[in-house]
Amino acid sequence: MNNVILIGFMGSGKSSVGRFMTQFDYKLIDTDDYIEKKYNRKISDIFEKDGEPVFRKMETQVLSELLEEKAQRVVLSVGGGLPMTEANRPLLKKFGRVIYLKAKPETLERRLAKDTSRPLLQGGNLHDKIVTLMGKREKVYEQLADVVIVTDHRSFEEIYRQIEEML
Ligand code: S3P
Repeated sequence: MNNVILIGFMGSGKSSVGRFMTQFDYKLIDTDDYIEKKYNRKISDIFEKDGEPVFRKMETQVLSELLEEKAQRVVLSVGGGLPMTEANRPLLKKFGRVIYLKAKPETLERRLAKDTSRPLLQGGNLHDKIVTLMGKREKVYEQLADVVIVTDHRSFEEIYRQIEEML
């Protein structure tokens, strides 16, 4: 098993680190992109028209499909809320090594300030939303992870080197 799964809050750098890893022969699969392509819909549209629970079911479905493919040398970047569905946790563990990309709320806030694509962060005070949601998620991320990597002020190269060391 040589797959890597990147978990963490929105804006923690999962997709960017995943993209960086493609130059080292990893195949990047991003669960959000996968869902958008499979259902030919934007995540924001799914949230708006069907609601979050439907999106969460799609995430579990996609994860099961990916597991069946028995892919190798994949870096799987998963949506920030995917690990919060309990049924997904053993599936992630089965898929490969789970890496939590951790970042401070201030860092996330800076990166997400202009974002309009993430339904859970629209409207209201961004800082409060991040802190509240992080409070509900952080323990799960930490317990699930085989490795925690702090990403504040780190380049993709540094983060990748740390991942490689731990594999
Ligand atoms: C979500 C994170 C998003 C996306 C959706 C919900 C979340 O993915 O799945 O907007 O609940 O944290 P990213 O973490 O890639 O932004």
